Amino acid sequence: MSNSFSSQFVHKLLQQPRGHPVRESNTRMVVNPLNESSLAFPLLLCFHIGGFVSGVGTIALVDFRLLGLGPTQKSSIQLWSDTLPWTLGGLSLVIFTGLLLFSINPDTYYTNHVFIAKMIALVIAVVFHYTAVYKAARTASPLRGVAGGISLVLWTLVLFGGVFIGSIGADLNNRL
Ligand code: HEM
Repeated sequence: MSNSFSSQFVHKLLQQPRGHPVRESNTRMVVNPLNESSLAFPLLLCFHIGGFVSGVGTIALVDFRLLGLGPTQKSSIQLWSDTLPWTLGGLSLVIFTGLLLFSINPDTYYTNHVFIAKMIALVIAVVFHYTAVYKAARTASPLRGVAGGISLVLWTLVLFGGVFIGSIGADLNNRL
């Protein structure tokens, strides 16, 4: 009797989509609708990737231009203004989908050291982009390439952070 109960319980657990909270009969809890479908996570990840291709891609164009690489028909500040809608649209999409992804399994993410490092790098990268990179794009100083280089490193850290949340981040959590 107890054996069949526990095997039913294990069977139910295995059927839970990613991050689904285990519900007990008398417990009331708020259920995130995103946890109701196993398609939610991969679909959100697709939009997350689309967002950063547009947002970080256009930022990288300006950074490379500051370094004197890539197409040089347009000045850095012209490139900045022309790509602004794609940068803002992409960053908004990546942040919105990132928050939704986070909501699927918040307990594992907010204790994940790689996730925290990615968020810190993201804040620094955004602030740096709208201050130092913007200033560098408006000047003709030979040092402006330094701002482009630092910006590229910061955004690379954010990207790598995203990729390693599930592997290195989870491993670190298990060890600490
Ligand atoms: C421009 C900003 C961002 C970039 C470039 C970025 C990049 C990435 C990358 C490359 C991945 C891995 C995709 C894959 O496995 O195929 C990822 C996953 C993820 N991102 Fe972001 N991200 C950004 C912003 C955010 C924000 C603001 C949040 C949350 C507040 C967030 C939360 C997540 C989560 C929860 C995952 C899934 C991790 C996993 O379980 O494997 N991201 N991100």
